[in-house]
Amino acid sequence: MTEIVHVPLGDRAYEVRVGPGLIGRASAEIAPLLARPRVAILTDANVAPLHLAPFQAALERGDIASSALTLPAGEATKGWAEFSRAVEWLLAEKIERRDVVVALGGGVIGDLGGFAAAVLRRGVRFVQVPTTLLAQVDSSVGGKTGINAPQGKNLIGAFHQPSLVLADTAALDTLPPRDLLAGYGEVVKYGLLGDAAFFGWLEKNGPALATGDPQARLHAVRRSVEMKAEIVARDETETGDRALLNLGHTFCHALEAATGYSARLLHGEGVAIGCALAFELSARLGLCSQEEPSRVRAHLKAMGMKCDLADIPGDLPGAEALLGLMAQDKKVVDGRLRFVLARGIGAAFVTDQVPPEAVRTLLSDALAAA
Ligand code: GLY
Repeated sequence: MTEIVHVPLGDRAYEVRVGPGLIGRASAEIAPLLARPRVAILTDANVAPLHLAPFQAALERGDIASSALTLPAGEATKGWAEFSRAVEWLLAEKIERRDVVVALGGGVIGDLGGFAAAVLRRGVRFVQVPTTLLAQVDSSVGGKTGINAPQGKNLIGAFHQPSLVLADTAALDTLPPRDLLAGYGEVVKYGLLGDAAFFGWLEKNGPALATGDPQARLHAVRRSVEMKAEIVARDETETGDRALLNLGHTFCHALEAATGYSARLLHGEGVAIGCALAFELSARLGLCSQEEPSRVRAHLKAMGMKCDLADIPGDLPGAEALLGLMAQDKKVVDGRLRFVLARGIGAAFVTDQVPPEAVRTLLSDALAAA
């Protein structure tokens, strides 16, 4: 039941394998990449108790030796301190240029592990084994690696493509429901940005996916990865179309900053609210009918997801302050904010022609309703 998505990037091309049970088959999957039968694994304290022993046992069955470093779980790990710890551990483990580093975990471990691999001995190969829905459909694919700076998220990093991604959809069974739904925010994003039929499929099958239907999970991860692979192949380093993947993210980043990157708002929850706001803005700018944002919100609500500013616990700053936070976004070019807007579900585009006044009014109205 493994499905394979190719990421066609010339000499950096790789496969994303999606399906249940891949962790248990790790040795057969990874062995062809290895110059010698050993790997170093980076993971975190949430993932290790669930998946590290089965992963290492699977490697051992194929006579692949492994050692593992378990970092603390959480976004705070994605900084210089744990990053240098990881790199120095890899050096202490005598990981050589031809060796392979494995990132076993969610987005934090994937981003940090990928960046460690990018700089270790000027670059070693790495395998992503994403264990969260968010990491399976987004962060493990496409080669964005890095850590956070005091000045903002993901400001230090490198493009470094993995050599292989193993998305074991059975690992999603161990995810807390809130994390699963947050990751689903990124899945919905793919339908909204470029595949109306997929969004329709999600409207029908999203509830089954949330409650654990393995076929629905497999299909949603595979289709999301396929869309991401296609966009990354067109624009690996985000000079153009890759920015489509940031649908909802300009709003999301401001909301994450306003809530202190805390448990008040998970990234995927911010993406879902951001997508709803981006569609609302598109309708107000006359790009699509009001029915489109209504349909987006209806689906998020039906899934029990956050979709309004009112769904974020605690106080938010005013519209002006949120606009100020948006101006810190990496996507600002020459002081102009770049938004991903839509002419309808499945028809997103990137623009820097958004009047700040329209965003201010949208945010004021959304805050007033909160
Ligand atoms: N997560 C957005 C990207 O990979 O470009």
